[in-house]
Amino acid sequence: MQRLQKLIAESGYCSRRKAEELIKQGKVTLNGKVVSELGTKASFGDDILVDGNLIEYQEKEYYLFYKPRSVVCTTKDDKGRKTVLDYFDDVDKRIYPVGRLDYDASGLLLLTNDGEFANLMMHPSNKIDKFYVVKVKGIVTGDEVKKLRNGIILDGKKIYPSRVKLKRLDKKNLTSIVEITIHDGINHEVKKLMEAINHEVIKLKREAFGFLTLGNLKSGEKRMLSPKEIKQLYNMAYNKR
Ligand code: URA
Repeated sequence: MQRLQKLIAESGYCSRRKAEELIKQGKVTLNGKVVSELGTKASFGDDILVDGNLIEYQEKEYYLFYKPRSVVCTTKDDKGRKTVLDYFDDVDKRIYPVGRLDYDASGLLLLTNDGEFANLMMHPSNKIDKFYVVKVKGIVTGDEVKKLRNGIILDGKKIYPSRVKLKRLDKKNLTSIVEITIHDGINHEVKKLMEAINHEVIKLKREAFGFLTLGNLKSGEKRMLSPKEIKQLYNMAYNKR
């Protein structure tokens, strides 16, 4: 027997946190009865429905995906835009993205149907480094790079990027390329950091997630993570705590 929210997350329906919300909203039934309090235990042998959808055990799958620009990171989009799941038509598991990449950003995104894994990777206490290459308007100065390194207050909290490097200045077109590694998991974090030093982001690409890189993948391509990589990701998250 396990907690209901854990079973829902394990089924790949959503994250455990989201499952807790759904339970509190009265959207979950256990053997025909609405459960709206956390703490109820059940097993996959029970009849569990979320919003009318049957919750069943699924084999876990883990993907590394090269998200193109102009693709949303949600599983559905009200505006009819292309979603990351449009690239996973051949996958029959209910997978979803681990965290977010903005619509106009590209790069490395993990997807899985393992809610526990997704939670662990996204949790800010695990401080997993995400490496971005960002193109901004204007010429970034050494002082501005120092400002970033010394920490910037975002959403009331001082944020220290793990690494900042000025990569290239284009004095003709007045743009700069900056490499930045962050580990906090704040929404639109890179854009907010660049805004704090008065530079608008033109292009943003996530090149790495922890030790994982895009490798030979082309935009729109994916590959499965190996069992060794999954184990390494777990180790990394636990060691960073
Ligand atoms: N920071 C951003 O501003 N956007 C992303 O998509 C990821 C990190």
